[in-house]
Amino acid sequence: KQNKLWGGRFTESTDAFVQAFTASVDFDQRLAPYDIQGSVAHAKMLTKVGILTEQECQQIEEGLADILSCIQAGEFEWSVALEDVHMNIEAALTERIGMAGKKLHTGRSRNDQVATDIRLFLRDQLGMIQSELKRLQQGLVSLAEQHTDTIMPGFTHLQVAQPVTFGHHLMAWFEMLKRDAERFADCAKRVNVMPLGSAALAGTSYPIDRFMTAELLGFSRPSANSLDGVSDRDFAIEFCAASALLMTHLSRFSEEIVLWTSAQFNFVDLPDAFCTGSSIMPQKKNPDVPELVRGKTGRVNGHLVSLLTLMKSQPLAYNKDNQEDKEPLFDTVDTVLGSLRAFADMVPNIKPVKASMLKAAKQGFSTATDLADYLVGKGIAFRDAHEIVGLAVRLGTETGRDLSELSLDELQGFSQDIGDDVFQVLTLEGSVCARNHLGGTAPNQVRQAIMDAKTLLAE
Ligand code: ARG
Repeated sequence: KQNKLWGGRFTESTDAFVQAFTASVDFDQRLAPYDIQGSVAHAKMLTKVGILTEQECQQIEEGLADILSCIQAGEFEWSVALEDVHMNIEAALTERIGMAGKKLHTGRSRNDQVATDIRLFLRDQLGMIQSELKRLQQGLVSLAEQHTDTIMPGFTHLQVAQPVTFGHHLMAWFEMLKRDAERFADCAKRVNVMPLGSAALAGTSYPIDRFMTAELLGFSRPSANSLDGVSDRDFAIEFCAASALLMTHLSRFSEEIVLWTSAQFNFVDLPDAFCTGSSIMPQKKNPDVPELVRGKTGRVNGHLVSLLTLMKSQPLAYNKDNQEDKEPLFDTVDTVLGSLRAFADMVPNIKPVKASMLKAAKQGFSTATDLADYLVGKGIAFRDAHEIVGLAVRLGTETGRDLSELSLDELQGFSQDIGDDVFQVLTLEGSVCARNHLGGTAPNQVRQAIMDAKTLLAE
């Protein structure tokens, strides 16, 4: 059947395949609650400026409320012939209330309507993302708090480098997420601008009050240019960019958890609830949740590139291309929310295996830098100290011992400046506590970072 909402100038009906090809209702029906929210505000504004009567406005509001409950109950019949969510709802409204339904679209176009709907949708979802992100940050902080003194090896090149505390490592993840939260908050400012009133592209000849609609919908302001209003999707791209970075962080985090749960590391234990078994190998407990989050990062990166590519050659103003913005955006929202939820649930349940962490930190000469710094304290130039410690490490490697296991005689063979106070310096605790400045791994500093984090989260 022909689309009654725009069929006037057509003599032939749309090809059946083309109708299905151009329709978006299968996916954009998800915007229905926002579409209705926008229509109610639009109707109220049209009433205030004298375009609709109070009675018509009431009919519209009631009709839309009925449609919304019908949709929520799963009883609404979506029609591909009506193309998209907007025309499905408008047609259903007219079917219910007649003439007043036909007046709703006065001074409006689907172009500003859809741009408004996506912004309302994204604003809503951003709120949920921000609160899940915060829950994850809280989980990290509370785990870090229990492990300000838990020693583990820090790595560079995935080789043991220097000892750090597990709390410090967790707070590194907290910092990444803090920046993600800032990016989402910043993105939200530009999401919350209202294109409604831009109409198709040039604005409308009706005496609309865009400030009123913006206020009713909780937007901070109406958009400043109608051409830009209907064609701008920067906000969606920004959101996907912030999401891609967040997912990159979660993916790195995931990679560490996957490594750490392996028998070779055995640094942490994950609760059974976040793992699955193997259908063939009875001993298996696989870290599926972090693996999946690591994998899902790929699709979010892909969605960012999709949207950038979607927009890159579009002339002003609205083009049908923009219909392609929804699926990447929706999937990004869903993937980010799901990944955050999984992590927020999982992180507080991570159990470090302190003994393995400590054992690993004792291997790999993680206090070699401390010995060099000790020699500098005795008046030796750092480069010479580096060389001396390198020779001591070679002896340790050849004889299978850590620096702290070499005798004072052996150490003095490398430098007469070494005294028996060196053994305190070669302990892991001594090494960690010595890095006692802003941003360092000393337990004192980690406790301070945790306090700052808590203050931030309480804001
Ligand atoms: N379904 C369309 C979209 O998602 C709505 C706007 C259509 N406007 C138009 N002039 N065809 O972008």
